[in-house]
Amino acid sequence: MSLFTIKNVQKTFTHGEVKEEILKGIDVTLPEGKITALTGASGSGKSTLLTIAAGLQTASDGQISFEQQQLTSMRREELRQIRAKQFGFIFQFAHLVPFLTVQEQLSLMLETAETPLSKQTQKKEIREILELVDMWKRKDAYPASLSGGEKQRIAVARAIIHSPKMLFADEPTASLDSKRSKEVMTLIQRLAKERNITVLMVTHDMDMLTFADHIIEMQDGKIVQDKTI
Ligand SMILES: Nc1ncnc2c1ncn2[C@@H]1O[C@H](COP(=O)(O)OP(=O)(O)O)[C@@H](O)[C@H]1O
Ligand SMILES: [Mg+2]
Repeated sequence: MSLFTIKNVQKTFTHGEVKEEILKGIDVTLPEGKITALTGASGSGKSTLLTIAAGLQTASDGQISFEQQQLTSMRREELRQIRAKQFGFIFQFAHLVPFLTVQEQLSLMLETAETPLSKQTQKKEIREILELVDMWKRKDAYPASLSGGEKQRIAVARAIIHSPKMLFADEPTASLDSKRSKEVMTLIQRLAKERNITVLMVTHDMDMLTFADHIIEMQDGKIVQDKTI
């Protein structure tokens, strides 16, 4: 039984009289603790599929199942809890809060968690995660003084500080140069392995595919290639 499966997912948008099929029946099984890359031309439906899988928008048809629970038939509140506890998100830009230091960005996450930890445990967790992404030395820095790569490493730390089982990333390296992109991908790869996090990542950068264990290529809302490395 796989941790996360996408079955016959369809998405249709209606513009007045015109119906546009954006996803035309997608089937994907994500290998646990591995990186699945979603690739394909711009407009092929990658972000739509990622956001549906992550429970950020609904499918028109089909099923998403996570640990044998059907996300697609869940009540909104139930889905929100799974998203908050079990899923982490990274986007193209880090979207850090400008007036908070690096460690404050992370304490904000822990303070607003469903089950808040004691202050002392929070401190310990923050240190551990910042050491993991090699940013402990920058703990008191504000976002304005961080490089793009450093900001994205904080975004990775923020995405996994609550120990999610799933990590959803939409073009996480698109705002970085190739050296920083590789650093961020090496970090994501290490986390997937060490913490057994299942990653679904959109990228159209061929160099980033070398970090993937499983590559799905999309074209016009369909899968044209599904390859396990
Ligand atoms: N909310 C929406 N309403 C209408 N069309 C949308 C919406 N979201 C995405 N689309 C369309 O769906 C297609 C796929 O978009 P997207 O999933 O963002 O592609 P990709 O991430 O592969 O570039 C595009 O043609 C886009 O215009
Ligand atoms: Mg996209």
